Amino acid sequence: MRTPWIAILVLVGVAGCQCGEQPAEVTVAPHYAGWEAVVDAVARGDRRDAAERSRLMTEGEPSLWSGPGAEDANARVGAGLGFIAMAEDSEELADGLASAALGCGDCHAAAGATHELERPALAHPTAARWVAWGLVWHDPRIPASEDERLQPLIQQWSEPVPKDTDGVDPQVAQAARWFAACARCHSESG
Ligand code: HEC
Ligand code: HEC
Repeated sequence: MRTPWIAILVLVGVAGCQCGEQPAEVTVAPHYAGWEAVVDAVARGDRRDAAERSRLMTEGEPSLWSGPGAEDANARVGAGLGFIAMAEDSEELADGLASAALGCGDCHAAAGATHELERPALAHPTAARWVAWGLVWHDPRIPASEDERLQPLIQQWSEPVPKDTDGVDPQVAQAARWFAACARCHSESG
C-alpha cells in the first residue's frame, strides 16, 4: 500500500522546518548530516535502520538558505525522509530516498550552490551513494563499471522508466528503481 505523498507532505514538511515560535533545537550539524547513513540503510533494505536514521535527519536543522524555492525544497526533503520512516517495503524506501534527494537538488539548483563533489569510483558498495549524490547535485552521470552486479542496473538506467509512476517525477522514478534493485538483491541473498 502506498501512502499518498500529499498526506505526509503536510505532516513532515511542517515538522521539518523551524517555523514555529519555539526556539529551534541547538544543533551544529550541517543540514546534510546523516545523509549517507540514510542512503546506505535504504540500499540494504533495512527498514528499521532507515526509519531511525531518516527520523534523526528530520530532527536536524534544514538548510537555512531562504531564497525562492527553499521552502518547497525543504518540504520535499522532509516529505521524502518522512516517507522513508513510514515505508512498508524496500520499494517505498527507495521512492522516499529518491524524492528527498531531488529535494536537496532542487534547492541547490535554486541557490546556485556548488560543490567539488568527490565521488569515489562507481563501485558496488558505494553505488547507491553515487546515484543519491547525483540527484543532490543534478549530475545524473553513470559511468562504466567493472562490477558485474551493477551491469543490469547500469543497463536499466538508460531505459525509459515505467509509465505507471503515479505522476512521480521521471528522475525520481529512475533513481528509485536503482535503489530498489540494491535492496531487492540483498534481501534475496539473505
Ligand atoms: C533549502 C535549501 C537546501 C536544501 C533543501 C538542501 N541544501 Fe545542501 N546546500 C544548500 C546551500 C545554499 C549550500 C551552499 C553552502 C551553504 O550555504 O551552506 C548547500 C551545500 C551543501 C553541501 C556542500 C557543503 C560543503 O561543505 O561544501 C552538501 C554536501 C549539501 N548541501 C548536501 C545536501 C543534502 C544531502 C541535502 C538533502 C538531504 C541538502 N543539501 C538539502 C541549500 C540546501
Ligand atoms: C545481484 C545482487 C546484488 C545487487 C544488485 C547489489 N548487491 Fe550489494 N551485495 C550483494 C551480496 C551478495 C553482498 C554480500 C557480500 C558480497 O558478496 O559482496 C552484497 C554486499 C553489499 C554491501 C556490503 C559490502 C561490504 O563490503 O561489506 C554493500 C554496502 C552493498 N552490497 C551495496 C549495494 C548497493 C548500494 C547496491 C545497489 C546500487 C547493491 N549493493 C546491489 C548483492 C547485490
